[in-house]
Amino acid sequence: MKDKVAIITGGGSGMGRATSLLFAMEGAAIAVADIDDAGGQETVAMIEAEGGQALFVHTDTGDEASIVHLVEHTADTLGRVDAMVTAAGISYSNFIEKDESTDPWKNPREGLILNKSTERWQKILDVNLTGVMICAREAARQMIAENHGGSIVNFSSIAGYAPVPTIADYCVSKAGIVMLTKCLAAELGQSEIRVNAVAPGPIETGMTQSLIDLGRLQKQAASLPLGRIAKPEEVANVVLFLSSDGASYITGKTIGVDGGTYTV
Ligand SMILES: NC(=O)c1ccc[n+]([C@@H]2O[C@H](COP(=O)([O-])OP(=O)(O)OC[C@H]3O[C@@H](n4cnc5c(N)ncnc54)[C@H](O)[C@@H]3O)[C@@H](O)[C@H]2O)c1
Repeated sequence: MKDKVAIITGGGSGMGRATSLLFAMEGAAIAVADIDDAGGQETVAMIEAEGGQALFVHTDTGDEASIVHLVEHTADTLGRVDAMVTAAGISYSNFIEKDESTDPWKNPREGLILNKSTERWQKILDVNLTGVMICAREAARQMIAENHGGSIVNFSSIAGYAPVPTIADYCVSKAGIVMLTKCLAAELGQSEIRVNAVAPGPIETGMTQSLIDLGRLQKQAASLPLGRIAKPEEVANVVLFLSSDGASYITGKTIGVDGGTYTV
């Protein structure tokens, strides 16, 4: 990744942060994009403390203009765009507001389709699916304008393969990422832009904290072949591989980083 420039959405926490730190250690300059200013700025400070180069760009991936600004500002400030990693995601509509009364894990009835408002459904789809398409499109337009190839890595989930009651919106958004990744790969291959995705299993991050508090993620992980929850860095390693020249003939694939979920 030496001398490359990577944009990482959701870089202020969890797997986006772990990916930002790893890419920076490998020599890339990072645009850390997040709606959470404190988290994003903290990631930048962590990278700079290790001697790396990073820039925070306040971004709402549910907003098209914000994504257009992210890509333009990164190219203007860091000189180019080689990689886009779309880790920003929400697990239920008001995740940002952190209103526990609507946490589907704590109040399951809230999340059921019978009780779900269209507005909540749409918010998840806007951030987790449409926002990813816009990030990929804008990054690809920039790479093509700069006359070089590049890599895009999206975040699906094991929830994109099997239904999880109370989070249908999330499941559908993550299933959509699998097909979006194939469609992007099919169209962008001729521009030497590879597009892949990771589908993480149970990972210890801010998003899963309430599941960990309830003991549910530990139970889910115990049933897996590898029998444990993973650290964000274990996913970041795979994102790095997919973004690197080592994966030069891989495109359109979603790689499970899931401890063997659905294997047995
Ligand atoms: N943690 C898991 O077990 C797990 C499993 C499978 C998939 N995923 C997916 O992995 C990705 C990373 O999640 P994580 O577990 O690291 O969660 P996280 O909550 O630790 O990090 C997500 C980051 O995205 C940011 N974000 C949320 N909405 C945004 C928006 N509109 N614009 C910009 N930034 C926004 C948050 O502020 C946060 O910094 C997500 O797409 C998530 O759906 C997570």
